Amino acid sequence: MLTRRTLMKGALVAGAYAGGVGLAGRFGGLAKAEAAATLVARPGEAMITDKGPTKGVMTYGDAEIPPVLRMRRGEAFALRLDNRLDEPTTIHWHGLRIDNRMDGVPFLTQPYVYGGDGFDYAFTPPDAGTFWYHPHCNTLTQIGRGLAGLVVVEDPADPVFDAEIVLNLRDWRLGGDGQFIAQFKPRDAARAGTFGTVRTANWRQSPQYDAPAGGLVRLRLAATDVTRILALQMEGAEATVIALDGNPAATRFALDHLMIGPGQRLDLVLRMPDTEGAVAALKDLRGTKPATLATFRATGASLKRDARDLPPLARNPLPEPDLAAATEIPFILSASAEERPKDGICGSLGYNFWAINKVPWADDTGDPTAPLAEMKAGKTYIFNVENPTPQVHPLHLHGLVFRPMNSNKQAIRPHFSDTYLILPDEKVQLALVADNPGDWVFHCHIIEHQKTGMTSYVRVV
Ligand code: C2O
Ligand code: CU
Repeated sequence: MLTRRTLMKGALVAGAYAGGVGLAGRFGGLAKAEAAATLVARPGEAMITDKGPTKGVMTYGDAEIPPVLRMRRGEAFALRLDNRLDEPTTIHWHGLRIDNRMDGVPFLTQPYVYGGDGFDYAFTPPDAGTFWYHPHCNTLTQIGRGLAGLVVVEDPADPVFDAEIVLNLRDWRLGGDGQFIAQFKPRDAARAGTFGTVRTANWRQSPQYDAPAGGLVRLRLAATDVTRILALQMEGAEATVIALDGNPAATRFALDHLMIGPGQRLDLVLRMPDTEGAVAALKDLRGTKPATLATFRATGASLKRDARDLPPLARNPLPEPDLAAATEIPFILSASAEERPKDGICGSLGYNFWAINKVPWADDTGDPTAPLAEMKAGKTYIFNVENPTPQVHPLHLHGLVFRPMNSNKQAIRPHFSDTYLILPDEKVQLALVADNPGDWVFHCHIIEHQKTGMTSYVRVV
C-alpha cells in the first residue's frame, strides 16, 4: 500500500515541484493561514535558452517560475496579490467555480490592481483537479512574458500515485539572442495567432524528470501558451487520460494525439517503463515540427504497477444540466471589420479582427458592451456555438462548467469543462446550469483573438 509519505517521497524524487514550492506547506497550508500568504507579481529574468538570461520576464513569487498553488477542495484559500509590476494587473483563477468578485476581470468583477497596490483573493475551491491562474489585464504581454502558473486542488479521496509531476507548457517569443521579440504580428492575429519560437515545459526546453520505474505518475499539465494548440502523444510508455480540464473523464482513454488548446488541462496516468534508465517522451505532434516537450526517466527497480488498478478520481459536485427544460442561446463566431478599438488601461492590440454574435469587444478596453445573454440562476441553458471561421478556437467560459454535446465535427467525450476547442465549421452544443451569479466572460483563449474582439460575457442573475 502506498501512503502519503511514499507519495511525497516519490514526488520529490520526480522533481515534481520544480519551481513550485515556497509559498506554504505542501498540503493546503495556505488554506488554514490566518494571515494570507502574499504572491508578488514582479519583473524578472529567466534562464530559458542557453544564450544567457532572458530579460523582461514577468513572474509570480520568489522563484524564477510562478509557483504551483496547492489548495484543497472545500477548504478556504486566501492569497494577497502584491503588484510590483509597473502596470496594472489582476489574477483570474481559470476553471475555478468561485465567487464572481474573485474572478479577476477588470471592469466586470474588480478594479485594476495598479503597480504598488494589492488585492486580497479569498475563496473556497468547490472542485478538485488541475487548474491555472493568470492575469486578465494586458494579457498578451503579461502571459506572454511569464505570468501563468498552475493550481492543483487536491481531494483526500483521490487515489495515491507513486509520483506527481506538474507541467506548465508554453512558448516564448524570443529572438536568436534569447531576448523577447515583438509579441505579435497583426496579420497572424487575424489568423491562427502568432506562434512562439522557443517551446518549454516548466520554463525549460525539453526538461527530464525522474520517476520510479514501473510506477504510476500523475502528470498534471496545462497549456498556458497564448497561441499554440497541441496534439499530445506519449512515446516509450503508456499514458492514460484520467481528467480533462480539471474534471474526471467518464471513461479513461489512451492519450493518442489528443488536441488541447490554450487554457486546457489534462491529467494523465503515466505508467513508467520497467527498465531503469528507460525514457518516455511527451510529444506535440501538431504541425510540421513535432516537438519533445518533456521526458521521464525510470529510476530504481520496477514497482510493477498496473494503471488499471488505479481507483477512480474523487468526483466533483458538478451541476447536471436539465436538458428537457433548457433554453438555447446562439453564439456565432466571426471575423470582424470593425474600426479600431479604443486603447485602455489593460492594453489594446489596436485592431478588431474577431467578434461573437457580430459584436467585437477587446475586453479590458474600457467600453464594455451589454452582456450577450442574461441567464436565470439555477436554470439550464444550451449554448449553440457555431464556428464558420477557418481557425480553431479554444472557447473559455468563466465561473461555470458546461457539458459539450452534439458536435457535427467531433466525437464528444462525456465530461464537464470550462474550455471547448471548436474546429472550423463546427457546430456544438454546450449545456450548463447557470448556478453561479455574476458577469462571466466568454472568450477565445488564443489571446490575440481575445484581445482583438473574440470576447463577450454572459450575466447570471
Ligand atoms: Cu484563462 Cu478569461 O481566462
Ligand atoms: Cu480564437
